[in-house]
Order: sequence, then C-alpha cells, then structure tokens
Amino acid sequence: MMPWDERFRKGEHTGRAPAEALVKLAQSMPAGRALDLACGAGRHSTLLARLGWDVIAVDASAVALSLIAPNDRIRKVLADLAKREFAMEPRGYDLIVCWHYWQADLIEPMLLGVRPGGVLAMAARVRGRFAAEVEVMDASVAMWQIQHRVLTEGVIELIARKPPAI
Ligand SMILES: C[S@@+](CC[C@H](N)C(=O)[O-])C[C@H]1O[C@@H](n2cnc3c(N)ncnc32)[C@H](O)[C@@H]1O
Repeated sequence: MMPWDERFRKGEHTGRAPAEALVKLAQSMPAGRALDLACGAGRHSTLLARLGWDVIAVDASAVALSLIAPNDRIRKVLADLAKREFAMEPRGYDLIVCWHYWQADLIEPMLLGVRPGGVLAMAARVRGRFAAEVEVMDASVAMWQIQHRVLTEGVIELIARKPPAI
C-alpha cells in the first residue's frame, strides 16, 4: 500500500468535500449502519458519522486511516480488500459506499451485504488502468431501484436501493 500511503502523506486525496450525491443520500436516509470501503481520508465516513450513522471505514492505507479524526461512531479497519482481508457481513449494512474504488469481485459481497431496503453507492472511473466495467456495474443492480446514475467525464456514479423482499 506504499503508493497510497505516499499520496496521502503528500496531501493528495485529502481535504475533499464529500460527493454531492452522497450528501443528498445520507441526508435522505435514517441513520443506520454503514460500511465505507476504500474510505481514504474518510470524507464520507465523517459525513455519515456526523449524521448519526455508525460507520465501518475500511482502507489498506494506514496513512489514510490516520487522517480520519477520531469519532466514536467510526470504526477504522486497516485491510487490503484485494487480498480479502475484510469480510463483509451478509445483510449487515443499511448503506455500503464504495466510492472511487473498483474491484469487480467486491460486487457480490456488497450486494449480499446490503440489508433489504438498504442502499449501495458506487463510483468509479470508466477509463484507464483501473476502470470499472459499466455493464457489470449496471447488471449487478438490475433488479434494484436506481436512485442516482450519472456517467460524466469518465466517471460513473451509481446508487441503488435493494428491494425489501430480496
Ligand atoms: C481514489 S481513493 C478514494 C477514497 C474515498 N473512497 C473517497 O472517495 O474519498 C482510493 C482509495 O482506495 C484505497 N485502496 C486502494 N487499493 C486498496 C485495497 N486493495 N484495499 C483497500 N483499499 C484500497 C486507497 O488507499 C485509497 O484510499
């Protein structure tokens, strides 16, 4: 995780405002249990905690996690998702956020991890080395209610609600 540690040490990816779509989403839902995967410096974990959510913030960069201000509502977990060092709890979360991180084999556990009626929020680049496959992303939530889907400037944002019955 050295490259990411270095980037965070240099101040990259820090001090950013939370994504507008997530601000709207967080304000529209009752506070519950959230999982912020590849949380970085914690802009979304912090937003959610301020709104009363209990958050599990996972990242492989210790430097990123150290930048998240201590908060009783945020549990920081140092884990490499690519090495499956963090196991998602099936139906364990009212909200899973995976924002600007793409790993195709996380889709399945994320879909399972969201509680019925809960929400999955994803954003990823669609071009370049670590690009997400938009078709895979769309297909994964085909049976869910799409709340937000924007594809602009090489980035897709997709927020979907799991049907209560699944
Ligand atoms: C572009 S940043 C996004 C951070 C945050 N989600 C946000 O929107 O501000 C990508 C994040 O993915 C993390 N990351 C990269 N590879 C990872 C891995 N294998 N496991 C866990 N986190 C990883 C990096 O440390 C970094 O914090």
